[in-house]
Amino acid sequence: MDRMRRLRMNRTLRDMVRENHVRADDLIYPVFVTEGENICQPVESMPGICQYSLDRLPEELDRTVDAGIRGVLLFGIPDHKDETGSGAYDEEGIIPRAVRLIRERYEDLLVIADVCLCEYTSHGHCGLVKDGIILNDETLPLLAKAAVVYAEAGADIIAPSDMMDKRVAAIRQALDEKGFTDIPILSYAAKFASAYYGPFRDAAHSAPGFGDRKTYQMDPANGREALREVEQDLAEGADMIIAKPALAYMDVLKEIVNHFNVPVAAYNVSGEYAMVKAAAAKGWISEKKVVMENMTGLKRAGARMIITYHALDVAAWLREEEEC
Ligand code: PBG
Ligand code: ZN
Repeated sequence: MDRMRRLRMNRTLRDMVRENHVRADDLIYPVFVTEGENICQPVESMPGICQYSLDRLPEELDRTVDAGIRGVLLFGIPDHKDETGSGAYDEEGIIPRAVRLIRERYEDLLVIADVCLCEYTSHGHCGLVKDGIILNDETLPLLAKAAVVYAEAGADIIAPSDMMDKRVAAIRQALDEKGFTDIPILSYAAKFASAYYGPFRDAAHSAPGFGDRKTYQMDPANGREALREVEQDLAEGADMIIAKPALAYMDVLKEIVNHFNVPVAAYNVSGEYAMVKAAAAKGWISEKKVVMENMTGLKRAGARMIITYHALDVAAWLREEEEC
């Protein structure tokens, strides 16, 4: 008779038969960069996470690199918003300047530039708006322009998060025309209209001013549709895919991994982070154990990379394990 417990009898044996591991290399750390000076502004709904002005950004990036994290995902907070989100594709905007600074100081840190308009538009939507409608095709050239500006600044990877149709094709074409044929696109392909983005919108000041994002982000009820989103983005030239949020959508992540042979990142989003932090602060759960269980679950579901605000903590815990 099979006795499943035979392989669980001691830690060495358990480690030997373990199917999945979390490594610092798997982790991507999202960072909020803001205009202004001497700013390290804590985000209330995301304990441990701050917005950094450019002069203070290196402090956080030093911690990131020292922890062994090798990729950051940048989000910009401009001081000026307008109808067309011009701060997103201004060469002197917050993100291009942040990217140039990182390029000067950190040779090996992978810089992933999120491409969207919502942090930069006065109405807070991810695309242009006319008469209350979020315009698709009119938005594409602006996204493509932002991608080129970020690539020119030195970004390693372009990550469009807007969910307009055909934006991957528009971005790929624009990058290629400018000679950036080797800059990969990490596409938020399966991005759901989720309440778990709440704390991020506090952090990035990007809540929609009217309505919601349901006309462009996916319906949380639809798993099969996510496969069509991924199929389209890959056909348009995406190199890697993001599934988002992570924990309530692990089935979607797994389906994507099963169907498509490209690296898939799980985005462990702000609300998922906030819930763990809140429960841990109350002493109701063990933060380290719960976070590691979440990370391991995402790896088990097939995530190649994990985008997470817990990245620095996870990297530190992994080092502790190595040492003991
Ligand atoms: C904006 C964007 C969002 C996130 C990443 N890019 C929020 C949104 O769609 O409103 C969410 C990230 C998170 O919650 O951690 N395009
Ligand atoms: Zn957006």
